[in-house]
Amino acid sequence: MLKVAVLISGGGTNLQSLIDAAAAPAAPFEIHQVISNKPDAQGLKRAERAGIRTRVVDHKQFDGRQPFEDALHEAISPDVELVCLAGFMRLLTDHFVNQWLDRLINIHPSLLPSFKGLDTHQRAIDAGVRFAGATIHFVRPAMDDGPIIIQAAVPIHQGDSAETLAGRVLAEEHRIYPLAVRLIALGRVRVIGAVVEIDGAETPAGALINPPG
Ligand code: GRF
Repeated sequence: MLKVAVLISGGGTNLQSLIDAAAAPAAPFEIHQVISNKPDAQGLKRAERAGIRTRVVDHKQFDGRQPFEDALHEAISPDVELVCLAGFMRLLTDHFVNQWLDRLINIHPSLLPSFKGLDTHQRAIDAGVRFAGATIHFVRPAMDDGPIIIQAAVPIHQGDSAETLAGRVLAEEHRIYPLAVRLIALGRVRVIGAVVEIDGAETPAGALINPPG
């Protein structure tokens, strides 16, 4: 049973999808604790409702990144085997990342390596690309970088706004984050240099074409 810590900063809808997946029968992982850098993060209430222990490590209480990251590291229970960033809005330096190398994953709302950074949906619309999506990846010191575990692609519709596209992507985030944690919990995920190999990975049939006509 893989013990997971989830780090949040906000609403926690990705946290909720992990809580729900961990509650399923025979789930191979449990949410051991939830930590937020924001005391008022709504995601903390989601954890409390699920009876999951929570901590707040408020980055504003620390003078600099390293003291904050040391406090964050201290707050993570020694039983935890995987740390999931889920809407966690603080950049983590190599100091923290190297302490959790290949045991620290993140979700980013774009098809990495395209559209690293913020405002990914508006940028994708402005660029005229036909697909957007989300990526779960192992964290590396460089922002939104690291070996990719799983991605979901969704078509961009003519007339999409950043909000309509965000909603479509978020629904897929909630599907792929639990799947990524499950694959890791089952020991089927290996990092080989800059890429991830997944034992027994199925492959989707066919290709998506947008627009189809
Ligand atoms: C999501 O779009 C996620 O991709 C990004 O933060 C947004 C909010 O996530 N990392 P959540 O609802 O707080 O899980």
